[in-house]
Order: sequence, then C-alpha cells, then structure tokens
Amino acid sequence: MAKKILLVAFFSIGVMAFAAKGTAFAVSAEENYKFYCAQCHGMDGKGEGANAKPKVVGIDLPEMSVTPRNHTSPEDMNKLTDIDIENAISGGGASVSKSTIMPPFGKTLTEAEIKDLTAYLRKLCKCKGK
Ligand code: HEC
Repeated sequence: MAKKILLVAFFSIGVMAFAAKGTAFAVSAEENYKFYCAQCHGMDGKGEGANAKPKVVGIDLPEMSVTPRNHTSPEDMNKLTDIDIENAISGGGASVSKSTIMPPFGKTLTEAEIKDLTAYLRKLCKCKGK
C-alpha cells in the first residue's frame, strides 16, 4: 500500500515538472528580442549591438557593411507596415530586399512570437507605421 502511494506521488511530481517546463517555454517578446535580436540591434533596439561594432577580445572585426535598423527611430520604423516587419523577421533581410546580414527567423520563432515581436518593436519606436 505504502509503495502504491509512493508511486502515485512520484508520478504527480513528474507531471508537475512537465507542466512547469511547458510554461517556461512561453517567453515574452522582450526576452525573445534580447536573446535573438539584441546582438545586432542592441539591448535597447538602437542598432548598436555587439555585432554591429564588434571588438572581440582585442581583435577588431570589420563592422557590418549595413547598420542594423534602429528600432527606436519613428522616422525609419514608420515607413514599415506591420506586415513589412513580420516579413522581415520571418524571411530575413533578403526577403524584403534589405541586407542579407539580417537573418530569417521564420523557422526559429512561431507566427505568434513574430507578431508579438512586431508589437514590441512598435513599442520601441512609439510609432504605428503607415
Ligand atoms: C546578425 C545581425 C542581426 C540580427 C541577429 C537581427 N537583425 Fe534585424 N537587421 C539587421 C540588419 C543589418 C538590418 C538592416 C537591413 C537594411 O537596412 O538593409 C536589419 C533590419 C531589420 C528590420 C528592418 C527591415 C526593413 O525593412 O527596414 C527589422 C524589422 C528587423 N531587422 C528586426 C529584427 C528582429 C525582430 C530580430 C530578432 C528576432 C533581428 N532583426 C535580428 C541585422 C540583424
């Protein structure tokens, strides 16, 4: 009998651990931005991430030929519709005739995450787009 209770207890701990793992995967747009985008666009979105002006332990790497978009600039970001932004994130720079340095994220992020990121970029630029 005691053995049975122990078994049930172990089983529920397993289920709880699994459920907790599930929620840990639901990250915010801000976290996604800081993880996937900040190395180029900067932690605050100004286009000044480490990769934009790389200095790796004393070695000067060549700067990117194209500066990553400043996501806090309303002038720049107002030119883009939400669909433009979603396409740029999903298909990368090449898909919107921009720099191929901008990688595609369509296979890394879900459609919902890309929509959330687009909303996050709208918060950074405090603009609505055309
Ligand atoms: C490896 C560097 C790099 C990473 C990582 C990166 N970008 Fe970019 N991104 C760029 C560059 C460079 C441009 C500028 C393209 C141009 O103006 O030709 C750009 C442009 C953009 C644009 C503007 C496209 C346009 O039409 O003007 C958006 C929106 C954008 N990035 C969003 C993101 C988001 C969101 C992420 C993270 C999911 C991200 N980027 C990650 C380098 C990067």
